[in-house]
Parts: sequence; C-alpha cells; structure tokens
Amino acid sequence: MKQDVIFTNDIEEALSRAVYAVGGDRCYVLCDEHTHQLVLPRINSPYVSQAHTIVIEAGEEAKSMRTVERVWQELCDNGATRHSMMINIGGGMVTDLGGFAAATFKRGMSFVNIPTTLLGAVDAAVGGKTGVNFAGLKNEVGTFAPARSVVISSRFFDTLPREELLSGFAEMIKHALIDGSSHLDTLLNVDVTSCRGEDMLCMLQQSIAVKQRIVEQDPYEKGMRKWLNLGHTIGHAIESHSHRHGRAVPHGYAVAWGLVCELILSHRLLKLPSEVVYALAKYIDNHYGAYAITCDDYDELIELMQHDKKNEGDKINFTLLHRIGDCAVNNAVERKEIEISLDFYRDLFHL
Ligand SMILES: NC(=O)c1ccc[n+]([C@@H]2O[C@H](COP(=O)([O-])OP(=O)(O)OC[C@H]3O[C@@H](n4cnc5c(N)ncnc54)[C@H](O)[C@@H]3O)[C@@H](O)[C@H]2O)c1
Ligand SMILES: [Zn+2]
Repeated sequence: MKQDVIFTNDIEEALSRAVYAVGGDRCYVLCDEHTHQLVLPRINSPYVSQAHTIVIEAGEEAKSMRTVERVWQELCDNGATRHSMMINIGGGMVTDLGGFAAATFKRGMSFVNIPTTLLGAVDAAVGGKTGVNFAGLKNEVGTFAPARSVVISSRFFDTLPREELLSGFAEMIKHALIDGSSHLDTLLNVDVTSCRGEDMLCMLQQSIAVKQRIVEQDPYEKGMRKWLNLGHTIGHAIESHSHRHGRAVPHGYAVAWGLVCELILSHRLLKLPSEVVYALAKYIDNHYGAYAITCDDYDELIELMQHDKKNEGDKINFTLLHRIGDCAVNNAVERKEIEISLDFYRDLFHL
C-alpha cells in the first residue's frame, strides 16, 4: 500500500499537484462545521473554492452511517461519478468518514486527505484505514483504502486547543519509542504547544515516516502493524474507564498514560532499561498530568483490557519494547503483572 505523502506549508501548490495526479472530472470537499469555518477560508485554491462543499457535524457522534448516507446523497445530487475526487479537510473523524464514503461510492472514487489536527496528521490520515462507528462500537465498519495523496501541513494547528495538540503528540511519542532513542530525545525536549512552522513540519515528517514504514510492510495488520498498538491496550482501557465515569480524557492522553504502564511492563518482562520509563513518566506527568486511579479501579481496567484484544485464557496480549526501537508483539501478560504495572504507575505519578 503506497501512499503519496506531501509535506509542505504551501498547501495550494500541493493540492494542485494531487488533483492533477488523480485527473478526475470534478472535486468535492468534505469538512466538518469547525474546519468549514476555521480552515477552508485559509486555503486559497480553486480546487477548494470552486468545489461543491459538503459540511458535516463535528465530533465523534457524527462519525456514523447516517452521516455517510448524507455524504453519498450529496454526491449523487451533485453529479459525482466514479472519476470524481473527494478532498477531506479535517481531523481524523473527517478523514476516516470521508475516506470510507469515497472508497465505497460507485465502488470507489479517489480521495485526498488534508489533516487539520495533529492526531489526524500523524495517525488517522495516513495508513489507509477508513471507517465509521456502528452499533456503539468504534470503527466497526470500514475499509482499507489509501488516500491518493495526503497533504501534511502545520499551517492550521494554530487554532487547535492545547489539549488537541498534546493528544496528537502522544502518538508521536509512540512512534519515537518504536523508532529509536535519538527520535525520542528530540521529542522529549520539545514543547509541542509552541512548536510551529518548519520545525513542526520536520517533526511530522520523521513521525509519519515511522508509521509509513510499518504500514508499507504490513498494510492489513497481520503482524508488524501491531507495533502501532504500543500503549493502546492499557490506553484504551483508561479511555473507556474515563468515559464510563464521567471524566472523559482525550484519546492521546489515555495513550500517554498507557505508554507509561506498558513501558513498566516492558521493563519488568523484557528488561527495557528503567531510565526510559523514568524519562517518559516525568515528561508525561509534567505535560499531561495524571489519570487518578486507586487499586479499586484495577478490576474494571483489566476487564476493559480483556474486551479490547484477542487474549489467551486469563492473560492479555501486549506489544512491548525490548529497547527503544525494538518492539515485541503478542506478549501474553498475567493479570498480576498488569496490577504491578498499575501500582508502579501510581507511584510514579504520586497517586
Ligand atoms: N484511520 C486511522 O488509522 C485512525 C488512527 C487514529 C485515529 N483515528 C480516528 O481519528 C478520530 C480522532 O481524530 P481527531 O482527534 O483529529 O478528531 P476530530 O476529527 O473529531 O477533531 C477534533 C476536533 O477538532 C476540530 N478541528 C479540526 N481541525 C481543527 C483546527 N485546525 N482548528 C481547530 N479545531 C479543529 C474538529 O472539528 C473537532 O471538533 C477518531 O475518530 C479516531 O477513530 C483513525
Ligand atoms: Zn491511538
């Protein structure tokens, strides 16, 4: 699965190239109500201003089949053909839903992604997974369908709240842990909330290259792509726990705490050096704070982890690290070890 990823702050020029490469008969723009207001007016391109624009509601609630149907209907009503092209301008919600709507319309029209959130840029817009939520389950319906081009820019991040920046940054930290220690050192010395322009673009390039390398080798998640699950087994459990208990945290925050816990497991089970755990925990504590839990939450968190994965008996499968840059998949971990990692997490975050 080869995806053309263009890194630039000259979006207009990159978009012309992307549209030219597809050579379609007509362009359609998909955005949500926020990117419609905040981002579209800042793109000075005829491919955007002259396109039929489809505006969907913002937020995860709108990532549904009902919205996809609305998008298909607007495409139908406005003369789209299989040779038309969709330009998805938004965060991961828009690129996931827009990619799915395009990939299934008339058996597939081309689409280009212009991610406008940090999480969208480093994760959702690249890698070819598209989809929507269904029957209360996240990303339950979808396809593997790569965008023809992904235009990565840092130009629109100035309107993102600090929380959104930090949420995306956690996925960048994950990529660095998978990649190597110099990449991680660079990130742990950065304040993402004030990083802009070319500096941000360089970081994006390095981070997305990690995901691309993995996806190119394992596009359909048969093995190596599981590396990208690092931090997510415990992270997803924390995220669901936070929603259940009315103190919802952004996905990336949950991943940040999940990474710390899974690095503790990596230290205990695979001898990952403890300095890595301490350095990461310190950074996460300083920038993300802590997710407060007590030992009374362990049962529920572990039950949520069991939902998340194919597991063997009582054990839960984890992607862990031998060293920075050296992942090991399918580690079946005993419940007791998970409890110990949560104990250590609470110690590190003074909970
Ligand atoms: N396909 C994949 O591989 C993959 C990977 C990770 C996440 N995802 C999906 O991505 C989604 C999360 O992505 P997200 O965090 O970007 O969510 P999102 O698209 O819902 O965006 C978050 C909020 O920011 C707003 N926004 C977007 N750009 C903005 C800008 N420049 N300035 C101000 N506000 C802006 C949006 O309107 C929204 O309100 C989830 O649905 C998740 O399932 C997919
Ligand atoms: Zn994630």
